[in-house]
Amino acid sequence: MVLFSSPRKKGNSNTLANQIIKGAESAGAKVETVYLHGMDISPCQACYACQKKDSKGCAVDDEMQTIYPKLVECDTWVIATPVYWFTMSAQAKLFMDRCFALLAYTNNPFAGKRVAIAMSYGDTDPFNSGCVNALRTFQDAFNYVGAKMIGMVYGSAEEPGEIKSNTDLMQRAEQLGKKLGTQ
Ligand SMILES: Cc1cc2nc3c(=O)[nH]c(=O)nc-3n(C[C@H](O)[C@H](O)[C@H](O)COP(=O)(O)O)c2cc1C
Repeated sequence: MVLFSSPRKKGNSNTLANQIIKGAESAGAKVETVYLHGMDISPCQACYACQKKDSKGCAVDDEMQTIYPKLVECDTWVIATPVYWFTMSAQAKLFMDRCFALLAYTNNPFAGKRVAIAMSYGDTDPFNSGCVNALRTFQDAFNYVGAKMIGMVYGSAEEPGEIKSNTDLMQRAEQLGKKLGTQ
C-alpha cells in the first residue's frame, strides 16, 4: 500500500514512490495507492476511545476509516513525503498520528509489516534539509511498533518531477520496489 502525502501529484516524493511501485509490480506485487492530500482526515482527537478495552476502533468518523482495514490487510506500507519545515509533511504526520488507533482493529497490527520511505527535499544536504529528522521519526515509530523498515530512498529536488534526473536514485527506488515485491 502506497501512501502519498505531497499536495503535488507529479511532485518528487510521488515520483520516487511511483518508481518503487514500478519495481514492485514488475516483481508481481499488487499495489494500492492512497493520496492523503485532499482526503477528509482530521487530526487525532486524543479521546483514547481506540485504546479502551474492546474498542471498535477510531471514534473519528472521516475518510481515515476507509484506510484502516487496508492498512491492516496489506503486508507493506510505502510512505512518500516531501520535507516540510525539517520533517515530514503535515499530511503524513496526521496519518501517522491516526495510526495510533490501529491496535483497535486487530491484534498486533504491525507484526510482520514491512515499511519503506520515499522522501524529497529542497536543500542539497539530507542533514541540513531535515530529511534525516523525518527518517529518524519513521525509524523510531516503526521500530517502536515492531514493523520492519526495509528501505528508504531520498534525494534533493525542487521543481515537480525534477528528481527524475537523479538516475541513480531512480534506479535505487525501482530496486527497492523489486525487493518489496519479491520478499
Ligand atoms: C511548506 C514547505 C516547506 C518546505 N520545507 C523544507 C525544508 O524544511 N527543508 C528542505 O530541504 N526543503 C523544504 N521544502 C522543499 C521541498 O521539500 C521540496 O521542494 C520537495 O522536493 C517537495 O516534494 P514534492 O515535490 O513531493 O512535493 C519545503 C517546501 C514547502 C512547500
